[in-house]
Amino acid sequence: MPATLITNIKQLVNVRAQSPVLRGKELAELPCIENAYLLVEDDTIAEFGPMSALRQAQGDRQVIDASGCLVLPAWCDSHTHLVFAASRESEFIDKIKGLSYAEIAARGGGILNSARRLQQTSEDELFRLAWQRLEEVSRLGTGAIEIKSGYGLTVETELKMLRVIKRLKETSPLSIKATFLGAHTYPPEYKDNHQGYIDLITQQMLPAIAAEKLADYIDVFCETGFFSPEETTAICRAGMQYGLKPKIHANQLNCSGGTQAGVALGAVSVDHLETMDEEAIRALAGSNTIGTLLPTAAFFLRMPFQPARALADAGCALALASDFNPGSSPSGNMNLVVAMSCIQMKLLPEEAINAATLNGAHAMELGQELGSITVGKKANLIVTRPVPSLAYLPYAFGSNLVDKVMIRGVWTVF
Ligand code: NIG
Ligand code: FE
Repeated sequence: MPATLITNIKQLVNVRAQSPVLRGKELAELPCIENAYLLVEDDTIAEFGPMSALRQAQGDRQVIDASGCLVLPAWCDSHTHLVFAASRESEFIDKIKGLSYAEIAARGGGILNSARRLQQTSEDELFRLAWQRLEEVSRLGTGAIEIKSGYGLTVETELKMLRVIKRLKETSPLSIKATFLGAHTYPPEYKDNHQGYIDLITQQMLPAIAAEKLADYIDVFCETGFFSPEETTAICRAGMQYGLKPKIHANQLNCSGGTQAGVALGAVSVDHLETMDEEAIRALAGSNTIGTLLPTAAFFLRMPFQPARALADAGCALALASDFNPGSSPSGNMNLVVAMSCIQMKLLPEEAINAATLNGAHAMELGQELGSITVGKKANLIVTRPVPSLAYLPYAFGSNLVDKVMIRGVWTVF
């Protein structure tokens, strides 16, 4: 593979020698180089610096002139439900007419609706649909992604979903992490027998998943009407016995102790966080757990946005993710996620970009491999169209400003 040299880059964004998880004030520091070059060899970032330091060309190189353009690390989307069988726009209409997400779920819609559809759909068809979505988000600049199960809710269909994710991992150039979310909701037959379903998860699903090495993480929808903090803890502990670290859904609809449960478990991340009180914020700020904010889900459900300012100012480590799913965020567009976090949650563009790149990578334990412009990291890059400044990216929220995308040294969009 010939090397790729990108020259005259208006601004090379998020250049770092070290890759710590960023929290508090560090989140607002986005190191950049003006008028820069970047050299990619094989699948790796080999060298970068100001144009004045560029040495004469040696050997075979593809040269790309990026005059007027920014180069960023590709987005790291650390929370999605990308494998699903069908869209749910009829529930979207129900919501316009006044039903809430919780009311739709209580009528057998929501997650149960997706589970019924998924049970009727073959593994090959699920793979085909997921592949299309993966191509779509990678065209929008996503280079690494976490994907959850949780629309199966039986042993066989949870395994089916996770096998689809495994095939995506094996086939796609994107870095993919798989999360087992059997505890997404109670299937109807276990409505009055919660312990029975928890036993199914811990005694049947988990051993089968571990035997096929199908998951990296375990997730629970910790929410009033779904799984309590105690149930969440028990399920995550069972997962941890099989080497699956927790990444949990917490504090979305109600402030019900999910964040504290996640922190106590040493979760990699607690995600959503629309409803946070002082105690939850303090718990998160004092921990190594990353708080992953999903602004497009709050937007789509007309929920109050996550208190990003209060979380950042308290010293929490924050990531941004799309939550791509058919019920609460039917979009995997990370450019929109970044813009929405600035427009509605008052993150600075620098904070949002750090949260959607390096901290997103850390929320998938890929922070040493991806998420910044660092020598030796994988060359996952976005080259923008010519833009006046970095802040123009979230400002011009409706324009597609992603011009080229490189994944592991190969241009996937050019
Ligand atoms: O992250 N909140 C729980 N799970 C998803 C939504 C799932 C669905 O509605 O299909 C979420 O928002
Ligand atoms: Fe989610």
